[in-house]
Parts: sequence; structure tokens; C-alpha cells
Amino acid sequence: MSIELFGENNDMRKDADIVKKEEQRKKTFNGLCASEWTELSKSVWNDVSSTRKKKHLVHGATYPEKLCDRLIRMYSKEGDVVLDPFLGTGTTVIAAIKAKRDAIGIELTDRFFDVANTSISEIVDNNQINFFEESIYGEHRLYKGDCSEILKRISDDKVQLTVTSPPYADLIHKVVEDRTMRHKKSAFVTENNSTTNLYSDDPRDLGNMSMDKYLNKVKEIMRELFRITKPGGYNAWVVKDYRDTKNKIPYVDLHTKIANAGEDAGFYYHDLIIWDQNQHRKLVLLGYPSVFYVNQNHSYIVIMRKSK
Ligand SMILES: C[S@@+](CC[C@H](N)C(=O)[O-])C[C@H]1O[C@@H](n2cnc3c(N)ncnc32)[C@H](O)[C@@H]1O
Repeated sequence: MSIELFGENNDMRKDADIVKKEEQRKKTFNGLCASEWTELSKSVWNDVSSTRKKKHLVHGATYPEKLCDRLIRMYSKEGDVVLDPFLGTGTTVIAAIKAKRDAIGIELTDRFFDVANTSISEIVDNNQINFFEESIYGEHRLYKGDCSEILKRISDDKVQLTVTSPPYADLIHKVVEDRTMRHKKSAFVTENNSTTNLYSDDPRDLGNMSMDKYLNKVKEIMRELFRITKPGGYNAWVVKDYRDTKNKIPYVDLHTKIANAGEDAGFYYHDLIIWDQNQHRKLVLLGYPSVFYVNQNHSYIVIMRKSK
């Protein structure tokens, strides 16, 4: 008898907890309850990397869907618009659709756009949504072309969250050149030992631009992103710093340059998250025996915000 009563009390407590969490979810801008909010607030992420699928190897520089999903749940709520101006294989849009967000993606290179389009079509079919119809905003969701031009077509204050990973100026050219010369002691080492290929030979591809030209282009893109981001909305860029030993100052602090470009456009620097990738990358010998370099087995997620 007393055991049954104890069970009933337990059930009542669980019900009360569910009601309390539902009440909390209604109050937050992202639909999270307090315990989910706390759980997602870690500054170093070491649990979002995943084994890459075949389509990811076609590209060579994709990020995991889990990483995207976490950012989407942190900085947006169901129905919000999530954007990726450098869509690649479609990871951001796929994560957004699965999390019941609306989404816009832009990709310049035909072969990546086709991979994204096919993967997104499968998700759209599975979820039975009208993603490829003109949206309620009268705008399209998937664009093939140069994001610096296409962003101009998107209306003001529309996007709650941008999640993206840009090319790293002409780093890929340097990596390819370096590998061709089989310079084994090189400090140019890329992610997961994946095959490194140029994204395209299109001059509008940010991966084909010198650092100066690239940063000017990033600033131009940031200005458009600022215009189309809702007041209070977020802008998350996943970037890795890298090393160019041919330069007098070898460390390229790319995440700071990206944050500065965002600040120039009007965003403020909101947070910085570290994506720890040690588990999925083996250590390589760098600079031995004359100069000690660390393996850069982490990326940064620069979080910028537009004031309310
Ligand atoms: C680092 S990758 C993004 C990968 C993506 N996050 C994924 O998970 O598949 C950068 C992408 O930007 C694209 N890109 C480069 N310049 C562009 C431009 N001007 N407009 C749109 N996309 C561009 C490249 O073709 C490449 O696919």
C-alpha cells in the first residue's frame, strides 16, 4: 500500500516537472527549458564530430550536422529562418529542416549545389514539407550563385540565425601546391586527411582570393548579413586559424579577422565557442627538429549578434 502511494507521488512529481518545463519553454526566445539551456551552454565542444559520409568526402570541408543542430537549437526557435551563404553539401539547411526551422542556402559551385539539392530533397520528402515552393515570404530557399550578389535579394530583418563556414581565402591553393611538392615538413595540414581540392576555378569563389581581397569580400557579405538579420538575431561563423610558414608571421588568426569584419558591419561580438577536434585527428610532426608548432586540432565558432 505504502509502495503504491510512493509510486503515485513520483508520477505526480514527474507530471509537475513536465508542466514546469513546458511553461519555461514558452518564455524563452529559443523554446528551451532551463535544464536544456544549461546543458547547451558549454564553451568547449568535443562531442559534435562524426564519421563522414560519402558525400562529405566529395567536398573535403564540411562540418557535422550535430554541430549545426546545436547552434540552431541555441539561437533560434521553431519557424525561424536559418541561413547559410556558403552552403556546400547542405548541412545547415538539412539540420534546420529537421529542427522545424525555415531555411535559406546559397552555394556557388555546381557540383556541391547538386549534392545539397539531392540531400535536401530527401529530407523534404521524408518530412512532407513544401520547401521548394515559393515560401510565405515570396522568396526562394535554395540559390545557386555568388552569395555576395544573392544576399541582396533577401529582405531586411528576415533571418534569425546564420550558421556558416566560409572558404579560408586562398589557403586551399597553398595546401594543394604544398602537397604537390611533397613538402613533408609542411605546416599546412588539413582536416581528417581528406583529399584537398579547389572548390572551383570561379573568380567569385572566396577560396580563390588573396587575403586582402577575401577580407574585403567578407566585409561586404557581413554588411548584407547585418541588414537581413533580425534585431536580436545571431550570426555564427565556424572557422579555423591556420599557419602559413612562408609568411614572416606564420600564425593566421582567421577567426579574429572574421569577427572584426562582423563588427565593422555592425554586429557585436557575442561569444566564442571552441570545437575540439582532437578525437578525430591524428597528431602530425610539425617543424621538427628546429621549431616547435602545435597541431591546430580545433576550430572556433564566432558568435556575433545584431542589437535588439
Ligand atoms: C567550407 S565550405 C562549406 C561546407 C558546408 N558547411 C558543408 O557542411 O557542406 C565553403 C563553401 O563555400 C562555397 N563558396 C565559395 N565562394 C562562394 C560564393 N561567393 N558564394 C557562395 N558560395 C561560395 C564553396 O563552393 C564551398 O562549398
